[in-house]
Amino acid sequence: MPHIQLDLSGTEPFIRPEEWKAIAPQVEAAAQLLEQRCGLGADFLGWLDLPVRLDSAELQRIEAAAQRIRSQSEVLVVIGIGGSYLGAQAALEFCRPTLRGKPSGGALEVFFAGTHLSGLYLKQLIRAIGGRDFSVNIISKSGTTLEPALAFRFFRRLLEERYGLAGARERIYATTDRSRGALRALAERQGYEAFVIPDDVGGRFSVLTAVGLLPLAAAGIPLDALLGGAAKAYQRYRDGNVLQNDTLRYAAARNLLYRKGKAIEVLVSYEPRLFYLAEWWKQLYGESEGKDGKGLFPASAQFTTDLHSLGQYLQDGRRHLFETVLDIETPEDGALTVPATEDDLDGLNYLAGKTLHYINRQALQGTMEAHIEGQVPNLRLILPEASPQVLGQLFYFFEKACAVSGYLLGVNPFDQPGVEAYKKNMLRLLKQP
Ligand code: PA5
Repeated sequence: MPHIQLDLSGTEPFIRPEEWKAIAPQVEAAAQLLEQRCGLGADFLGWLDLPVRLDSAELQRIEAAAQRIRSQSEVLVVIGIGGSYLGAQAALEFCRPTLRGKPSGGALEVFFAGTHLSGLYLKQLIRAIGGRDFSVNIISKSGTTLEPALAFRFFRRLLEERYGLAGARERIYATTDRSRGALRALAERQGYEAFVIPDDVGGRFSVLTAVGLLPLAAAGIPLDALLGGAAKAYQRYRDGNVLQNDTLRYAAARNLLYRKGKAIEVLVSYEPRLFYLAEWWKQLYGESEGKDGKGLFPASAQFTTDLHSLGQYLQDGRRHLFETVLDIETPEDGALTVPATEDDLDGLNYLAGKTLHYINRQALQGTMEAHIEGQVPNLRLILPEASPQVLGQLFYFFEKACAVSGYLLGVNPFDQPGVEAYKKNMLRLLKQP
């Protein structure tokens, strides 16, 4: 199986060898805290060896439910927010990139809901489903998050009106805590098929649990390939030596840059299929590191599109950022080749016979060189291909590097106390008479 690789040559002008030497023992100590499960938030390390201790009975149940969803419905509505949907959406768009979300060849269409409070969106979504048969996967670990809980109220009613109580029960799948929360109670009371989010796996680390796996299996993504990739990454990134382990090299490089005032990391991609992966990554790093007045701010950009909007700032603006570039090495199936024209009126015949993938990668190379020259350190993560195996590696790579990064910063990467502040105010306002 081809594996992802981290190229740090674009950071060499910015990080001196002695700085690497100095940080190495700190990174190795952070990695040890993680491996020995004695750092902050150690109760939430269930994701660490998840790829090699998957419950095969639970996997079979997920596959069976996915099969049932496909046979019952043309549409699946996945309801969840934050870590309860971003991994599934990222994987879906990575593995099954489509124009405007519509799959081809009659495959199950997957929509996401409960990711915000827009009434217009819900109305449009209900309209888009129209008369088609649909099922719902409601995902919430706490079972009490307002956005998904409200969206579920609408869809539950819609299902009950359309299929009756018993019919709705057949089409609702709940993914939640083993024993706590309103959603668990509701699922038990109504008899919905329920899947467990393990106690020791937090939302943003949960993509390889039923949270991500059920929607992905329903959409026809091969789970064995995704999980096989993650298992490979688990083995590959166990080495405690910072020079041998790309998760540790990544954590070290971004921490060294942070210490030099590069407080913003921009995850750059050149393919739209990576858009939601960047959203998932932003949540993972933002919620894990941004606390106690510390943390890199995770941002993202989609090139070459954003070179025509953010490009000026990135090249020339305040020098407080660095980029991590996702580079897909192998072209798509059926890569498009630029045709020659007789008149060459647009002057593009110099590109005739070249694939768009090749041109895109030259854009990547040229942009990296320009940005490094403009004093923006560039890390490059090379993805050998855009396959589920590689995605499984990537998920695990970022999760492990994130945990080590959090420990390097001296924060608990597994809590999110700051998220409560808005909720408290919102509830106070909503409960006002
Ligand atoms: O990573 C996290 O813990 C959060 O982003 C949660 O996933 C998010 O807030 C949704 O929470 P819940 O699954 O409890 O509805």
